[in-house]
Amino acid sequence: MNGFSEEVLLNYGEKLDEQGKDSLNRIRKASQTMSQLIDDILKLSRITRADIHFDKVNISGLVNTIGSEIKIAHPERQVIFVIQPEIEAYGDSNLLNIALTNLIENSWKFTIKNSQARIEFGVTREDGKPVYFVKDNGVGFDMKYADKLFQPFRRLHTDREFPGTGIGLATVQRIIQRHGGRIWAESEPGKGTTLFFNLGGE
Ligand SMILES: Nc1ncnc2c1ncn2[C@@H]1O[C@H](COP(=O)(O)OP(=O)(O)O)[C@@H](O)[C@H]1O
Ligand SMILES: [Mg+2]
Repeated sequence: MNGFSEEVLLNYGEKLDEQGKDSLNRIRKASQTMSQLIDDILKLSRITRADIHFDKVNISGLVNTIGSEIKIAHPERQVIFVIQPEIEAYGDSNLLNIALTNLIENSWKFTIKNSQARIEFGVTREDGKPVYFVKDNGVGFDMKYADKLFQPFRRLHTDREFPGTGIGLATVQRIIQRHGGRIWAESEPGKGTTLFFNLGGE
């Protein structure tokens, strides 16, 4: 769909008026969104079935790498990462990497309007057990809708303002649940968001 629309634009663009070109561009945009959605759903279903291998994981190291890569991919943005060092967890490093990537990408995205964006990763304790968190000072959301957060395709912000397919947090929740853990959020509009999770085995 995308390829043929592009071909029409390239080869017949001169014969089309602005409205025609605009319609074709909309078709292209919609087909790209659909393709992204299908990719994301495939990833989600793979995660549900993937084998899980428990090991000691250096999650501070994972978060450091994710942070460096996202900074390299978007050099135009100035975002401060504060990562508590030497945090280890017991889990599947591959799956935890996917979960943390999704959380950090969200924090990255929802701090875009902030000139002094800050993303923090750390661990606290609750009932003696570790609770990991990813915290940002982005746009936040109204806690009234917090129960929608982890449902596939549910989004609390518009695609126009913050693009996305709404599969990320559903994926993260599935990963955490496969570890026997729980994930929850705290947020306030205009102040920022923190995603907390624990891993059942710890
Ligand atoms: N760090 C965050 N700050 C503000 N809102 C968030 C944050 N993380 C998630 N959300 C809200 O939860 C929704 C679902 O997140 P997600 O499943 O990752 O979807 P997507 O990133 O495609 O929008 C987002 O659309 C957004 O409304
Ligand atoms: Mg996301």
